[in-house]
Amino acid sequence: MAIPQHTIDQILDRTDIVDVIGQFVKLKKTGRTYSGCCPFHQEKSPSFHVYRDKQYFHCFGCQANGNAIRFLMDIGSRNFVDVMKDLSSQTGIELPKDNRDANKLKYKREAAKPKVTAATVAPNKDNPTKAQTSNDAFTPNLEHDPFAEFQAFDESAFQDPFVGFDQFNVPEDATQDGNLYDLLENIAQFYEQKLPQSQTAQQYFKQRGLTSDTIAYWRLGYAPEDWQHLEKAFPQDIEGIKLLGLIRTNDNGRSFNLLRDRVIFPIRDVKGRVVGFGGRALNDEIKPKYINSPDSEVFHKNQLLYGLYEGRKQKAHDWLMVEGYMDVIALQQYGVAGAVATLGTASNTEHLNILFNQNDKKNNRITLAFDGDAAGQKAARRTLEIALPLLDDGRELKFFVLPNDHDPDSLIRREGIENFRRLLDTSPLLSEFVFAQLTREQDIASPEGKSQVMGELRNLTELLPKAGSYRYLLQQYFREKLGFNKRWQPQVNTDASLSFSTKIDAEEYVIAILMNHPYLYIHFEPLRALVPQDQLLFKILNVLNIIFDDLPDDPELSSYYVMGACANYHHELAQILPQANVDDYTSSPEQADKLAADFSTKLQYQFLQQKLKSKKFASLSEMRNLKQRIYDIDKKRSLTLIDE
Ligand code: UTP
Ligand code: MN
Repeated sequence: MAIPQHTIDQILDRTDIVDVIGQFVKLKKTGRTYSGCCPFHQEKSPSFHVYRDKQYFHCFGCQANGNAIRFLMDIGSRNFVDVMKDLSSQTGIELPKDNRDANKLKYKREAAKPKVTAATVAPNKDNPTKAQTSNDAFTPNLEHDPFAEFQAFDESAFQDPFVGFDQFNVPEDATQDGNLYDLLENIAQFYEQKLPQSQTAQQYFKQRGLTSDTIAYWRLGYAPEDWQHLEKAFPQDIEGIKLLGLIRTNDNGRSFNLLRDRVIFPIRDVKGRVVGFGGRALNDEIKPKYINSPDSEVFHKNQLLYGLYEGRKQKAHDWLMVEGYMDVIALQQYGVAGAVATLGTASNTEHLNILFNQNDKKNNRITLAFDGDAAGQKAARRTLEIALPLLDDGRELKFFVLPNDHDPDSLIRREGIENFRRLLDTSPLLSEFVFAQLTREQDIASPEGKSQVMGELRNLTELLPKAGSYRYLLQQYFREKLGFNKRWQPQVNTDASLSFSTKIDAEEYVIAILMNHPYLYIHFEPLRALVPQDQLLFKILNVLNIIFDDLPDDPELSSYYVMGACANYHHELAQILPQANVDDYTSSPEQADKLAADFSTKLQYQFLQQKLKSKKFASLSEMRNLKQRIYDIDKKRSLTLIDE
């Protein structure tokens, strides 16, 4: 089984090498790396290092190195596919179905009835009307080999006993297996050849501005009105047509064709094979506007992009995700290569990964187009959240927000190629786009507004890959844009008679310390187990516990970082912070450290005392334990700054 690179990347994206190796090796965190004793050679002192940011391990003793897959292969002496199967089930990212399982592509063909054999209805390209009277079976144009281009890569072809089979030599009444890809190709040709027979369908494309070259390039067609045109054209292939979901049955058991009196967009996979169809109504009164053939053995909407095959053929490298088939087609006709659309579904991780994997790792940028209306904004936000985890260093996203009431199709027609390109080229980068989104509803002149924005940013950056510098850069960028150029200071209350001890309590003071100097959390960690869970302090300690490892090295930045992460509590914080003149007591780092240690001890003592008084302990030994802890703390208490 060949596993495509994008699937491998996707699985690696969702796998953390530290977790993987941690199951085999006891790892110790030192700074930003992890180390332990190498499992591949005998050693006493650890020379085996795991780098989370690079998702890579290296042993300086025996030079073993690689990624998570390499590690699992070597540690278990297992082969690649075996390891990938495990990782696939752990990450939920499916491996491609084995293409060579040709049985799934097969269906039973019915025996041909005497009069409608291939030989009697000769392919007739120049005069299709003759061969296509409504009762005639359709025979595809065999001169055109649509498979020629990908034949060399197609593994399944080597397994399929019917490849190369000359269908004109088949005995007339023989039953043979059909192949779904062949059937799809034949149906596509059938629809293509029906287009010249329908005035309305041709008129429709003309009115939408498509040239005949464009129609031919995209192999556009027309599905006739007849309720059973497919059964009539392909009487031997009804089982196959059903497998493709192109025949429906109504409540009375009568069957009819899914796509009727619609213009047809054949959908090709990355190898150019027709795998499904989209059908558009000929006017906007008919609902639904588009009907797509359902997923089948060969048609997986989640893994397909309309226009990808054509874009690759045109050597596109600027990929643009749009919404509709007509957008893709119009852009191509105007000379914009590389537009792709999902098949009537929202874009998902897989779609974005496919696009990112079209380019080389460096300088890898894709653009997402969205309508300017509210629904478009919502879709943009949704897609943003899906895209963030995929943004390894080197991958970039741009957001092309369209003017109201336009889609790319209508815009390029109105603006022409040059203006369109200019608009496209100036579309904002992710950072600019996110900034605009997050600041739209906030008063960013106020500290509250700023911290709200930083908080929402924090929620988004949380989605970025753990490895990589992007989350730091994005925070930095926001800070600059918000005009944080000096150290954030709690507003000093000028009323000299107010001091923290009368106005706010010790818990609140600790909160103020943590917001100003999040690194001091180390001292307060033991409090987490003691503070009642409904207290603000408990919530703040919890946030810090989560974000502590990610705090930016820059102390100034780390303070904004924690403000952002605590944005949910910013109302309460706004009450507390102005009252606590933390800076008065924390003019030097050493002093701050000591202050924090003292406060922590004091509060631990308080909470333990409270617990002892409340008599809420399960056993005598728990009480003894409590008393011992209080005694221990009492001994080391040095409450130089705080009197009880
Ligand atoms: P839109 O409704 O935005 O229309 O659908 P459009 O692409 O601008 O279509 P035209 O220009 O009026 O022809 C965007 C895409 O959503 C899917 C189709 O894939 C379509 O291309 N869609 C839309 C459906 O699957 N079903 C529908 O009823 C409508
Ligand atoms: Mn449109």
